[in-house]
Amino acid sequence: MANTRLSLIDIERPGDPSVFGADVLTSAQEIIGRYPAGQSRSALLPMLHLVQSEQGYVSADGIAFCADVLDLTKAQVAAVATFYTMYKRKPTGEYLVSVCTNTLCGVLGGDEIYKTLSELLGVGMNETAGTPGEAGSITLEHAECLAACDYAPVVTVNYEFFDNQTTTSATELVGELRQGRRPLPTRGAPLCSFKEISRQIAGFVDQRPEALNAEATGPQTEVGVKLAAQRGERAPAYPSAEPAASAESSTATPAAAAPAAEDKAATGQPTSAHDAPLTTAVSDPAHPAGQADDETPGKGE
Ligand code: FES
Repeated sequence: MANTRLSLIDIERPGDPSVFGADVLTSAQEIIGRYPAGQSRSALLPMLHLVQSEQGYVSADGIAFCADVLDLTKAQVAAVATFYTMYKRKPTGEYLVSVCTNTLCGVLGGDEIYKTLSELLGVGMNETAGTPGEAGSITLEHAECLAACDYAPVVTVNYEFFDNQTTTSATELVGELRQGRRPLPTRGAPLCSFKEISRQIAGFVDQRPEALNAEATGPQTEVGVKLAAQRGERAPAYPSAEPAASAESSTATPAAAAPAAEDKAATGQPTSAHDAPLTTAVSDPAHPAGQADDETPGKGE
């Protein structure tokens, strides 16, 4: 069996970082600038999305470019690129259609939807119908939980959600894409190409007004929050957090967000078991003000 990690570091053609132009290098430097000085390797994940946004996949050239710019070995870059399924190893279609076949979606129809689309397109997992990159080309994949179980079964197109799908609606969706049309997702931004969404995931904001104003959630997502607000409930505090007087009287309404933030500022501790620990880089807004990075709680443990 071919070793896919080695295939990204082609010994015959080790990758040419110079295929990426000055504009890509400028974008790379912008990405690196988001991280603390001397920690450019932390930029690898968005860098891989950046090279993917140029070529539609992470090629040997992309691996070499990331290694060059971040002062890593190609083996280190390839090890990361082959770990995450969002980094594609072959040229991808204009649209990446992901069908959730995890447990809930699977039993509610996801397996049948994947089978139907696979037969319709004549392709299997990570294969492309049409010429990769050309209009209407579609790469199909089945995906693990897409974090939208309340809308199961779900399909995403370039990571935008199409909720509560059936074999019929998914077939119609794919038919529209192949005809060069872009149906509106159930929620979230209007569709763009796989290369464009890869650039957004690299951290470059989609400036389309309709994307900036799009609703990200639907009614099912907000049920828990609304119920908690009605009942005056809030998430429990960390065991180590000092009880704050304001915590007793506050509720889970949006207005309660301010006291919670004050609690964190006062104690230096997260106020909820669902809150992120403050083990962040200095450049992160959540980092305690004035605390040197190597003093960050949990760092180096
Ligand atoms: S199981 Fe499909 S979104 Fe969670």
